[in-house]
Amino acid sequence: MRLDRFLSNLPCFSRQQVRLLLVERRVRVDGQCVSDPRVEVREFSRIEVDEQLLQAGRPLRYLMLHKPQGCVSATQDPQHPTVIELIDQPDTQDLHIAGRLDFNTTGLMLLTNDGLWSRRLTQPQTKLPKVYYVETEQEIGEHYIDKFRQGFYFAFEDLTTQPAELTLLGPRSARLSIVEGRYHQVKRMFGYFDNKVLRLHRERMGPLQLDPNLQPGQYRALYPEEIQAI
Ligand code: URA
Repeated sequence: MRLDRFLSNLPCFSRQQVRLLLVERRVRVDGQCVSDPRVEVREFSRIEVDEQLLQAGRPLRYLMLHKPQGCVSATQDPQHPTVIELIDQPDTQDLHIAGRLDFNTTGLMLLTNDGLWSRRLTQPQTKLPKVYYVETEQEIGEHYIDKFRQGFYFAFEDLTTQPAELTLLGPRSARLSIVEGRYHQVKRMFGYFDNKVLRLHRERMGPLQLDPNLQPGQYRALYPEEIQAI
C-alpha cells in the first residue's frame, strides 16, 4: 500500500497531517527518510514518525512482566536495576514499556515493540481502566469515594483527573480503577488527603490481568487473544 494511505488510515493522523509529516521529512521507512507519498510499504516495512514506531517491520513482541519492587521502569539507569534487565531475550533494546510504574510499585507491566498497540493501551482517550491495589498509612474514609469520582485538580498539568472508582477493602486498603496514567497519579490522589501510599500493586490494564503464576521478576509472552483484546 502507498505510504500516505498507510499513514492516513491510522487513527492518529489526518490526511492534512500526513502531507505535512512527509514534507517536513519526519517519516522514515526502514531507517530512510521518505517524503514521497507514493512509496509502497508492506507489513514487514519498519515505519517511524519522529521517534514513534508505527510498524515494527519485524516480529512483534508482547511480554507481561510481574514487576518487582526496587527496579526502575526504564531501559537504562546508571544506579538501579531496570525492568529491561529482567528480560532474558535478544534485542531487548527494541522493547518499550506500555505504562510505567514507580520504583517500589509492583505488578502488571507490559513490554512490546509495537508502538500502536502500546498507544491504544495507554492513551487516556481509550479509557482503559488500570486497576491498582493500594495500602495507605492513614485510614481511608468513605468520603474519599466521591472525591475520586469527581476528580483531583493537578496544577502542574492544569487538568482535573477523570472519574476514578475507589472500592474500600479494609481500613487502610482499597482497590482503585483509573483511566489515565499521569505521573505518580495514585500517590498524588491520596496525597490530597495527606495519606501516604505504602504499597501499590497494578493488577490489571483493561482486559489484561496479571498472571497469578508469575512471581515478582518473572515474565511471559502474551497469548494471541490477549494481544487482540487491546
Ligand atoms: N500511580 C503512582 O503513583 N505510581 C505508580 O507506580 C502507578 C500509578
